[in-house]
Amino acid sequence: KKLIIINGPNLNLLGKREPEIYGSLSFTEFLEAIKVKYDDISIEHFQSNVEGELINKLQEVGFEYDGIILNAAAYTHTSVGIGDTVAAIQTPVVEVHISNTFDREDFRHQSYVAPHAKGIIVGFGLQSYELAIQSFLK
Ligand code: DQA
Repeated sequence: KKLIIINGPNLNLLGKREPEIYGSLSFTEFLEAIKVKYDDISIEHFQSNVEGELINKLQEVGFEYDGIILNAAAYTHTSVGIGDTVAAIQTPVVEVHISNTFDREDFRHQSYVAPHAKGIIVGFGLQSYELAIQSFLK
């Protein structure tokens, strides 16, 4: 199995960024532990703060990999382009969010990714990513 986690803007700051919302673990620390736990599958990681780079990566892996775990962060709520890419590619995409976006501002209730996602996992902290990985294991 070949999976990739694609993280959008500001998720490179995990651990330092609003820890009361997003926790105090860095994504690198989390990913190292996850890779050890799921050592029989390949889990890659890509992060960008740039919308077009996220689209390029989705296109690159979207016909090759078994699963994409996408946290488009703020672009979730604004990017018709990323939504169109998720619709265009073949690899199933699970949308994840660390925080419960439905318990936050109204503008976070909208997702351009969700209509094209296989499923959505929201609000479980970094465990949201692990639940998404588990959804691809059969
Ligand atoms: C987020 C939620 C988004 O609303 C926010 O813009 C983020 C992170 C989350 O994982 O909780 O940057 O995607």
